[in-house]
Amino acid sequence: MKSFFKNNGRRFLSALLMIALTVCLVSCGTVETSDVKRLKLGVVIYDEGDLFLKEITDELIAQAKKRSKTSGEKLQITVSVRYARSKQNIQDDQVEDLIDNGCNVLAVNLVDRNDPMDIIDMAKKNNIPVIFFNRELVLQDLNRWNGLYYVGARAAQSGQIQGQECVEYLKQHPEVDRNHDGKIQYVVLRGEINHQDAIIRTDRSINTILDNGIPLDKLSYEVANWSRLQAENKMNQLLESYGNSIELVLCNNDDMALGVLDALQKRNLSRTSYPVIFGVDGAKEVLSDIKKGLIQGTVYNDGKTQADKVMDIAVRAFEGKDLRGLSMTDGKSTYVDYQKVTIDNVDQFLSLK
Ligand code: BGC
Ligand code: CA
Repeated sequence: MKSFFKNNGRRFLSALLMIALTVCLVSCGTVETSDVKRLKLGVVIYDEGDLFLKEITDELIAQAKKRSKTSGEKLQITVSVRYARSKQNIQDDQVEDLIDNGCNVLAVNLVDRNDPMDIIDMAKKNNIPVIFFNRELVLQDLNRWNGLYYVGARAAQSGQIQGQECVEYLKQHPEVDRNHDGKIQYVVLRGEINHQDAIIRTDRSINTILDNGIPLDKLSYEVANWSRLQAENKMNQLLESYGNSIELVLCNNDDMALGVLDALQKRNLSRTSYPVIFGVDGAKEVLSDIKKGLIQGTVYNDGKTQADKVMDIAVRAFEGKDLRGLSMTDGKSTYVDYQKVTIDNVDQFLSLK
């Protein structure tokens, strides 16, 4: 009898313990999940082949992991990326899809910076903050709703720096004027026709050179849509037309500068007949070509910091925090500075890559 009570008492006690443990596990579990805030960032990119945007996208993904970790997993950031194959209607559908799938903040690299209305309408209707980046919409559209932001860099600054680099180089290297006519024969390889960086970079770069008293002789402007391959083709055509009378090539970005170099190298021309080449972005391959003396300068476009700023805004907007601490222009836009890169300081930038 005694042992009957003893055994059953033990069983009763262990059953009680089990119940207590289960209750604790269940309740602790609930506490934990309800404590975790889930930021689902939907990222849409105009096209998959763009080197500079790959850098920004990779950094957004890295930042999401890093910030989730440092929050002690209290803030879980997940990133979903879609590429729009250079079609605005595809991008609009992708945004709709991301919203249907529960994204609560959007980072948008517009295809057509003049056509953001569908995205703005959807975001406003669903109360989802949008951070546009790199392809700058007009201020009037940015002001359509208070949940809209922009992160980028000032196109004029990049043109000005490219122009200054070119002026300094030409002053130190009079041999660039190969035909000794006192003018520099030049061509420009442009990005997409409506992109703020293509329009403003070109104007500012040329005007900076002219303002510094260097006479220019324009041979041709060619659109190569930021693409290395298109730039190689265009440069081949230019070489057919102008041969080695091209003394200077200004490129709106580094991928196109690499395309220009591809065309020159595939023709087995002697190095002395190469024109001087300037780009924008600070792509790794261009940095090493600057070191080799094949490209004379670029302008560092700090994609990592731009991604960081996008994430800062995304997190604060998601948490409903005041964004004033981020000191944005008009409380809406952030511009990251461009930096000069030539043979004199290229090592400093190579170490960042
Ligand atoms: C970059 C280009 C890039 C373009 C895409 C520009 O700011 O310099 O390399 O292709 O943005 O929108
Ligand atoms: Ca000349």
